[in-house]
Formats: sequence, C-alpha cells, structure tokens
Amino acid sequence: MSRLIIVSNRLPFSIDKKEDQPFLRQSSGGLVSALVSYFENTGSSVSKFKEHIWIGSVDFSPQDWEQVEHQSKTSDFSVEPIFIEDEIYDLYYNGFSNSILWPLFHYFPSLAEFNESYYEAYIQVNFKFAEKILSIAKDDDVIWVHDYQLMLLPQILRKKNTELTIGYFLHIPFPSYEIFRLLSTSWKSNLLKGILGADLIGFHTHDYVRHFIQSSKMILKVDEQYNNIQYQGRHIKADLFPLGVNYKKFNSAGLDEDVITLREGIRDKMPGTKIIFSVDRLDYSKGLMNRLQGFEYFLDQYPEWIERVVFIFNLVPSRDGIPAYMEGKSSIEEKVSEINGRLATLNWQPIIYRYNHLSFQELAALYQSADVAFITPLRDGMNLVAKEFVASRANQDGVLILSELAGAASELGEAVMVNPTDTKEVATAIDTALKMPLSEQKSRMEPMQKRLQQYDVVRWVKDFLDQLENIKKEQANQQVKMLDDKSLVNIIKQFESAEKRCILLDYDGTLSAFTKNPAHAQPSDEVINLLKNLTSDKKNEVVIISGRDPDTLNQWLGHLPVHLVGEHGGFIRIKNTTTWEKQSATGPEWKDQIRPILELFVARCTGSLVEEKKNTLTWHYRNTHPDLGFIRSRELLNNLSHLTANTPLQVIDGNKVLEIRLQGIDKGITALKMVKLLDPDFIICLGDDTTDEDMFKALDDIAITIKIGTAGTAAQYSIPSQLDVMPLLQQFTSKEINQPGHIPHMQQD
Ligand code: UDP
Ligand code: G6P
Repeated sequence: MSRLIIVSNRLPFSIDKKEDQPFLRQSSGGLVSALVSYFENTGSSVSKFKEHIWIGSVDFSPQDWEQVEHQSKTSDFSVEPIFIEDEIYDLYYNGFSNSILWPLFHYFPSLAEFNESYYEAYIQVNFKFAEKILSIAKDDDVIWVHDYQLMLLPQILRKKNTELTIGYFLHIPFPSYEIFRLLSTSWKSNLLKGILGADLIGFHTHDYVRHFIQSSKMILKVDEQYNNIQYQGRHIKADLFPLGVNYKKFNSAGLDEDVITLREGIRDKMPGTKIIFSVDRLDYSKGLMNRLQGFEYFLDQYPEWIERVVFIFNLVPSRDGIPAYMEGKSSIEEKVSEINGRLATLNWQPIIYRYNHLSFQELAALYQSADVAFITPLRDGMNLVAKEFVASRANQDGVLILSELAGAASELGEAVMVNPTDTKEVATAIDTALKMPLSEQKSRMEPMQKRLQQYDVVRWVKDFLDQLENIKKEQANQQVKMLDDKSLVNIIKQFESAEKRCILLDYDGTLSAFTKNPAHAQPSDEVINLLKNLTSDKKNEVVIISGRDPDTLNQWLGHLPVHLVGEHGGFIRIKNTTTWEKQSATGPEWKDQIRPILELFVARCTGSLVEEKKNTLTWHYRNTHPDLGFIRSRELLNNLSHLTANTPLQVIDGNKVLEIRLQGIDKGITALKMVKLLDPDFIICLGDDTTDEDMFKALDDIAITIKIGTAGTAAQYSIPSQLDVMPLLQQFTSKEINQPGHIPHMQQD
C-alpha cells in the first residue's frame, strides 16, 4: 500500500499565543478546512493509503514548534513542517503569491505588483518544498500538491523523478487568458509548465478548466482533446472537481450541546429580529465594501426593516502584512461605523461587527441561527461558507444570497443570485430573502442539500485520487508502446539479417518538421544525406509516401533513387523513372465545387489556407487561433460530409488539416501495393499523422510500424517527437550499424 502525501503552503494550523504561551489553532481558509474534514472522515478503514503525510510551511520558528509539536499529533495524518527564512518567505508569500497571483487570478490586476524579487523567492521556496518532498517520497507514493503558492512544484518534482504520481489542485479561479497573459513572458510559461508537471490537474469549475487549457494552448501550444493534454510526450488530464464540505458534520452540528447553547444565546438576544450574517477572511476579493453598501441601500430603500433586522458581519484576520489588506480593513471599519452611526436607534444597531477567528461551534451556531446568509464575493474560487450554511440547515429553512461570481454559484443555482456590484439588485435580494415563505425556502434548500450531500468532501478526494490512478494507468498503456533501446536492438537485428528491406517514410512531421508555411518545409541537407546513405545499400528500397503533390516531391526528392508516392497514393513514381502513374481514372472537375467552400472558410478563419494538389484539396488551419480553428474545422467538416455523401470523394480529418480526395486511395492501400511490388522480407514504416494510421493498420502483421508523437495510434511503437526521427533512422545506415541499439536523443520532458 502506498502513502498519500498532501502538500500545501501552510500546515493546517497556525500558532497563537496566550499569556506568552504558544498554542496551535486551525488555520483559516477553504483549503485547510476541506482537507482537515476529509481526514476526520477517513479512518484507516476508508482510506486506501497506509499512511497520510501533510507537508507544509509554518510561520513560526523551530523553537516555537518544539513547544507545540505534541499538540499537532493526530491519528489522521503526520506532519512535516518546512521552516523558511523570514525574508524569503515574505517575498514568496506576501509578494509573489499574494501580491501578484492572488490579485491577478481574482481579476484585480490593478493591485498586482510585478516585482522580479518576488518571483525569485517564489522559485526558491518551490525548490525548498521539492527538496523536502523528495527526501520523504517513495516511487509508489501519491503526491497531491495544492494551490497557487506551489505552481512550479509539480514540474520540479517531475524532472527529478519521472515515475512519480503527482496531482495538482488549484483552489482559486484560473483567470481568462486575457488576464493571465498580463504576467511576463517567462513567468507565465514557467507557471504553466510547472503545473503541467502533474499527471492530473484539478479545478473547481468548468470555466477554470477551459481558461487553463486556453492559456496552455496559446502560450505552450499544447494539444488538447476533451481535457486530455499532450505536452512534451506526456499525457496529462485537466478536469473539474468542485470541492465539497463535510456535510454530515455541519448537518448534525445542531445536536451538539455547545452549539445549542451558543445558538440560543444569539436568538435570545434578538427576539423578533431577523438575522443576516456573513463570514469571510478579510480580503478584497470577498466584496466586503460592496456588501456593506448593498445593506445600507437596502435599509434606505426598505425602512420598514429598521429595528427588525440585524446583520452579523464577521471578518477573519488574513494576510495583514500586505498593504491592500490593511487599507481594506480601515475603510471597511469606517463604513461599518458610518452605517451604524447614521441608522442606529436607541434600541437597535444594524451591524454587529466582529474581527476574529471563530471556533467551529461559534460558526455552526451562526449558520443555524441566521435567517439569511449574505455571501457576495467579487470573485471566489469556490466559497465553502455558502456550502457550509446550506449543509447546516437541518430543517431546510433559511435563504442563501449568493454572488454569481463565486465558484459555488455553478452548483447552488437555487440561491438568490446577485451581482455584488449591483447595489440595487443586492438590496432587492435582501428584501426578497427576508420575506421568502417557508415553503419556498424549503423548495430551494432541498435540491442544494441533496447535491452537497452527494458530492461531499470525501467524495471530492476520492474522485480526484481515483482519476489520478486512472490517468497513471492510461500513461502506462501508452508507455508500453514507446520504442525503447531493447526493442530497437531487436529491430536492427531483423534489419541486418534481411535480404530486401522496404523503408516507408512519411514526409511532413516525419522527415521534416511542420513549418508555418507548408512551402517552406523542404528537406534539410541532413535528410538528403540520410536518404542517400540508406539507398546506397542495395538491399534497401526507400518509399517516401506523402500527401504532397507530385511537383513538390519531384523538386525536393526527385533526384534521389527513392520511390515517391504523392497525394496519399493518388500518384506513384517508381525509383529511377521520371513518370508519375495516376492511380484513379476520375478527373479533377469535382474540385471546382469544393474549392469555393474552402475559400469561404479561409475568409472566416484568419491564418487558414487552401492547398491545391492534382487530386486533393486541403484546408490547413495550423496557424489560426487554436480554438477558432478547431470550431471552424468542425463546421467545415459538417458541410463537406453533406456535400460528399454518395460521391467518390472522402474527407480526411488530419493533424490541423481537412483534406478532400478520392475514395479508394489512401496510404494503407498504397503501402500494400508497394510492398507487393517490392516483395521485401523486412518492412519498417514511420509516420505521424491520421493518414499514416491507414498504413499502420494495413501493415500491422507484416511490418514494424512507428508513430511520431504520443497520441493514440495503431502503430506498434511510438517515439516522442519529430526530432527523434533522424537519430533513429541513422541507426539503419551502414556506418552506424556496428553500434546499434541506442537512440541518441529522445526528446523527453
Ligand atoms: N473558517 C475558518 N475560521 C474562521 C471562520 C471560517 O477556518 O474563523 C472556515 C470556514 O468554515 C470555511 C473556510 O474557513 O470552511 C473559508 O473558506 P471559503 O472557501 O469560504 O473562503 P477562503 O477563505 O478559502 O477564501
Ligand atoms: C484561500 C487559499 C488557500 C489559503 C487560504 C487562507 O482559501 O486558496 O490557499 O490557505 O485562502 O489564506 P492564507 O494566506 O492565510 O493561507
């Protein structure tokens, strides 16, 4: 059984001092409360791990730690603290994490302070975490890295040990590309590469997943399909896992003696008064000022509620080393005094303000005694307070007012939804909530509770870890196919003992890298020399089997003693001849009908282009905006499928191309034709594209087939990238054959 290693910036507790004696209290915030409640629910019987270890930094000295270490002992998990020098920690935590990433990812770019020394400290601390983890982790452990403070960590770990199982979860929003791109060129690409070191990447909502993928496509040019990402030869998955709460704990907290006493205390002090409440860390993303303005406007617009409603406004201290937080505190406190000063009566004060940490009992008592929860962040990755409130209402009464800008809004659609910047809407929502009939309260609460009960925090962890296991299995299946040194030695032995060898090579993406303009992909000297060397051995028959038109192939390769196949088999030129044999009797008239449609799509998708060959029309969309190109290609595919139904034409959905050509002609059929003609006793075939899959399938029993790239394939082996093709083929030229079996530079991560 393996171990689960949780890694987060902070351990689940902070040190407070009472009469100069340090003691531990649970840290505030969603991440900690989620993971702690997960562990509270998973005895060793539930967990499939033999041990749980939590690694995190602590904001106190090793000496203080010695005094409180015994208080940290729990049977649920063991802790491994990381001590970081104050100055570095400040630049990393108050600096890069909370004065760049936090404001930017919460759509407050004007609060971001782009400072190089923050980034340097961020790198340093991420490395420090890696060092600690690597000193503990074993190959079969599962490492789960949490949140924006540690975005570089997965890649640092991956570079040290490619076998590790690494999950990464972002607890805050991943912003749209237009915001993310504000980061400097190297920061943004390093942060993405950092996260992509993980095997599974989790977010709270579908939008955050899409934003992350969009940025990865725009910045790192990753390939992605249905949230499966291919990057530098690795298969990575990004998906949504909306964080849940400890439903049972909150739902049954009403039976706890201490909670009952506290709840009754609150209610008794305010007989006949409706209670609205909120709890947040003091943070500008929480929309605190907008909330106060909304409440004030509500009292002005609906004076009938004067003396009949109280707003219990709880703030939890947070990040008070950062000016934006401290300035926020003073203006909020001024606003509270202003509202209380202006609207209070001799018997009544509209806002009860608290600035302190709450115990679980206090929090549960508030969740239960309030009539309305007023949760209106300007941005929030998820917002657990909203979910905890819903879970706490055992009688299914109470109303949740929720900001549409919180991640939780996508699961709590029955809440009274508001835009926190719309003061009028907020005021109306408060009035609606206070007047809502009990039957409606229940009909809204019930479906929300059902959802939260089904996907609670235990399910969240299980779902993430199960998917992480799945992705590792998928990677393992793919890996079996990677061409390794042992298989290569075997292939070379077969090659050496053969009397007649047929070497089938695709051109674009195999012998030559893709270029922005297809006309610029002419063969390098290295490729020409390789083909000369291969063909100088009389036992070798080389077939270049390409989608290119005959003229281009003539111009680039016509002088070599190789067989040429153009337009995927539409034309064949046998070596040492000059004529191309056309493989189909159908004329090119069909192109006049298809061409105008492709040209229309060129106009509708900047960067795309039409390539015309004798028997083929191709629409290329490699150089377009990745999302737009894909969407347009689906539209075009749909149009063309209708147009070509019941005709001798077929549409091929290739690698960033759509190709229209005659049926009955493909690389598979043509490869078999060439094999029949040449009658070899050894066949090897290399290709990278969808059209090459036809060859791999047709030659399956008789050839060695190798795919360039790691996407799913019918080939027997894969190699990571086009850059690995030349070193591999050089193994088959006579001068290299004496030291076979090592691919000099496989392009791994
Ligand atoms: N919470 C806390 N201490 C308090 C008040 C609240 O730890 O004094 C908890 C609360 O129960 C909730 C979490 O802090 O689980 C806040 O999570 P949320 O997602 O709402 O916001 P975050 O603070 O993570 O931005
Ligand atoms: C949010 C973040 C967490 C963080 C918490 C409290 O929930 O996603 O990573 O721990 O706020 O913030 P703090 O800076 O005190 O750790």
